[in-house]
Amino acid sequence: MAILISPSVLNSDLSNLAGEVGRIGAADYVHLDVMDNHFVPNLTFGLPVVEKVIASTGLPADVHLMIEDPDTWAPAYAEVGAASVTFHAEASTAPVRLARELRRLGARAAIALRPATDVAAYLDLLPEFDMVLVMTVEPGFGGQSFITGTLPKIRRTRDAITALDRDIWVQVDGGVSRETIGEAAAAGANMFVAGSAVYSAEDPNGAIEELRTLATAAYRD
Ligand code: DX5
Ligand code: ZN
Repeated sequence: MAILISPSVLNSDLSNLAGEVGRIGAADYVHLDVMDNHFVPNLTFGLPVVEKVIASTGLPADVHLMIEDPDTWAPAYAEVGAASVTFHAEASTAPVRLARELRRLGARAAIALRPATDVAAYLDLLPEFDMVLVMTVEPGFGGQSFITGTLPKIRRTRDAITALDRDIWVQVDGGVSRETIGEAAAAGANMFVAGSAVYSAEDPNGAIEELRTLATAAYRD
């Protein structure tokens, strides 16, 4: 399973977004957190900004939509070239229809679960998705601490994927750092979002390499 690092620009200097994305050349993806002040109590940026970032970087965009009504708004992110579009299970009315639409538009389709959202209802539907994002903090802000109570859900998700013999990614997002990435990888996560752990480092690319090395060593199917 590929081990992938997707730094979040949320806590970077958003007044210089292109410059900040330029500092993470060692990353596999750039993670873009779209928040609407309704699904989460924070507001970031939307489609026009995401479209400009995609045009300005060679990194594929991993768009995390923390918005209400993704059934209406998510396809446009695939249309502007996002490589992966993640929407929240709690916000979507028809997640399978939406995932199929995202794939039809050429993006990877991903479903996100808040810490208290059970994965059980989605296990039979896993082949409809390219990735499951298990949130390891309550979405909305960077810099929070990793919730270890989400580890069993990461493991249940990975085990179900292994049983299906599918190449579906498990992403973790929130509080991922040098200290926590190993336990997430050992639980079966293979794609790691890291905001403060990368952008608070003096050498963001060095931090990315270190996180990738730690995750590769700890990953368990
Ligand atoms: C939080 C966002 C995350 C956030 C992660 O709701 O989805 O992507 O930027 O930041 P850290 O890594 O600092 O927890
Ligand atoms: Zn995110």
